[in-house]
Amino acid sequence: MQGTAIAQPNIALIKYWGKRDVALNLPAVGSISITLRDLHTRMHVTFDDALEADELTINGVPDQGMLPRLASCLDRVVEHDRRCARIDSQCNFPIAAGLASSASSFAALTVAAAHAAGKAMTTAELASLAGQASGSAARSLLGGFVELVNTDDGIAVETLCDADEWPLEVVVAITETGPKAVGSTEAMEISRKTSPFYANWVDQQAADLDTARAAIDDRDFDALARVAEHNCLKMHSIMWASRPPMVYWNAATMRCLETVRALQARDVAVFFTIDAGPQVKAVCLPEHAADVEGALRATPGVEDIMVSGLGPGARLESTP
Ligand code: PMV
Repeated sequence: MQGTAIAQPNIALIKYWGKRDVALNLPAVGSISITLRDLHTRMHVTFDDALEADELTINGVPDQGMLPRLASCLDRVVEHDRRCARIDSQCNFPIAAGLASSASSFAALTVAAAHAAGKAMTTAELASLAGQASGSAARSLLGGFVELVNTDDGIAVETLCDADEWPLEVVVAITETGPKAVGSTEAMEISRKTSPFYANWVDQQAADLDTARAAIDDRDFDALARVAEHNCLKMHSIMWASRPPMVYWNAATMRCLETVRALQARDVAVFFTIDAGPQVKAVCLPEHAADVEGALRATPGVEDIMVSGLGPGARLESTP
């Protein structure tokens, strides 16, 4: 009745923003992401008759705040009345700060809980369950370049290209730690209901997905860079034009974009992307990673840097 799984966060290059079904947490648009290698969440789940309530520790510290969302995810995986669970989460990067910790957490939790409950599930079933907890978590089930596709009755995930087939590097510039002011679920609904740009965003997503898919097939870094930056800025424009406006950036976020532009002007193969937080993710060819890291580290306001290659999807670890 126990399972341990590890999953890495993923960074969307073509973003998911907006839901077509809030109750089922189904996205309004498809998305394409890269799964990281060096940032991870390890989840250990034990279903135990002796427990009277679910328990959660994050990096060894008891936590009540995240527990309801994690417990709901366990309810959906197990389906029927279940034993109470002890969940131990170990995460080697800041949580809830726009670094996709919910993606790695829910991907790892779903895989660990299915194993602990003795359920053999397909990737499609795991993706659907992880996606109900956090839309982006479904993508962390797979490694490398991953597309999340909207199907008639849900979602599907597929690998477009394995991590070692196009080994890019991601330099994450952390400009602020701590939880974000507005969670992504609430922010997406504000955008859907109030942003004048939201309908265009949904309409144009298929074209951006086609362009990115072709760029990945051709290993065309410049084409991927152009569409990824465009898609990212379009998503943030929706938020800025919402009522109330939502601006996740800070001054250092903007300075990081200037750093990336300066690197590009020197023919460094790098582009930026930003999620619902102030961190800047600079995606580059491996031979430019040291240059990109040095330039972002020297950018005023950058508190920390994390560098990661691309990695595999969520997987079980043997439980001692
Ligand atoms: O999975 P959620 O609910 O945390 O939403 C993720 C939204 C973005 O990170 C901004 C974009 C994406 O596709 O990951």
